[in-house]
Amino acid sequence: MIKAQAQPNIALVKYWGKRHRSSNLPAVGSLSVTLESLWTQTEIEFDPDLPEDLFLLNGIPDPASLVRVSRCLDPIRQRASCTHRARIQTHNNFPTSAGLASSASGFAALVTAATTALGLKVTAEEKSEWARGASGSAPRSLYGGFVELRLHETPAPGRTELVPLAPPDHWPLEVVVAITSLSAKPVGSTAGMDRTAETSPFYDRWIEAQPADLDEARSAVQARDFEKLALVSEHSCLKMHGLALAAKPGLIYWNGTTVTCLTVIRDLRARGIPVFFTVDAGPQVKAICEPGAIRQVAGVMRQIPGVLEVMTSRLGPGARVISGAQAPLMFPS
Ligand code: DP6
Repeated sequence: MIKAQAQPNIALVKYWGKRHRSSNLPAVGSLSVTLESLWTQTEIEFDPDLPEDLFLLNGIPDPASLVRVSRCLDPIRQRASCTHRARIQTHNNFPTSAGLASSASGFAALVTAATTALGLKVTAEEKSEWARGASGSAPRSLYGGFVELRLHETPAPGRTELVPLAPPDHWPLEVVVAITSLSAKPVGSTAGMDRTAETSPFYDRWIEAQPADLDEARSAVQARDFEKLALVSEHSCLKMHGLALAAKPGLIYWNGTTVTCLTVIRDLRARGIPVFFTVDAGPQVKAICEPGAIRQVAGVMRQIPGVLEVMTSRLGPGARVISGAQAPLMFPS
């Protein structure tokens, strides 16, 4: 039995849209920060007597997610020449499927646990590919701090490369997460991306402009230039939602409280407090702060009517095995 932990990551330059549905290849690169205090822990055990994979989320069997979990495990099993089914138990210490990147931390933890349980000596690239096949944002949770998932056209078109840009202590930004709804999002990311690619009139322009946003964000991270990172991150977030709003029918991931949070964060920044916002495919708002501003920002966010809960986090490490690594390996390589 191996247990691994991974944390969600928050994209500052967003991934939205797929080049290939079948391989889950993203249409654009992306850049994110990995959190510390929100986590997914996954235990896995391959069992020759198990007829099917078994997946429990927070202690409850979750057949709806099982197909995706088994599909993620299949190429890893194949690589290890293992035919055994697995018992997988996952716990999240934050709401699932509510726009808090639970699939990213979930699949990063699963790939880390499964490869270790099967005794595979794998490259970071292989792990990234397996995680990406399950969820386009998941590879980024394999690393901590600031992470880029790059898209290259050579040697093969659409090849991705996972690049750890900087560790958390390079620039110890902090994140306030404002929960504005506990409901699952009405349209999941995968379906939302498909609809956007098929119907949004701005989709081609989004793909063209992404490399410039990534260059801008990468250089802001390297130079620890907060204002520059704030501008490009808010731009990427609003552009992604603008694109989705313009799909047919339009995708509205926000609620009224989401919009209030965005205006409050902009007002704080105008008053000199180093904070900017980002929002993924859901109504929760993430406020990214310079170290030192988090208490004030969290205090203000808590007062906003409609904010149900506020969580805070530093930047954290990548996915790792947290117990059982010394256990005998079933398929030593
Ligand atoms: C808005 O990685 O959840 O959070 O590849 O279909 O699983 P799938 O999508 P997913 O989408 C993430 C979208 C986003 C932006 C981002 O994290 O880059």
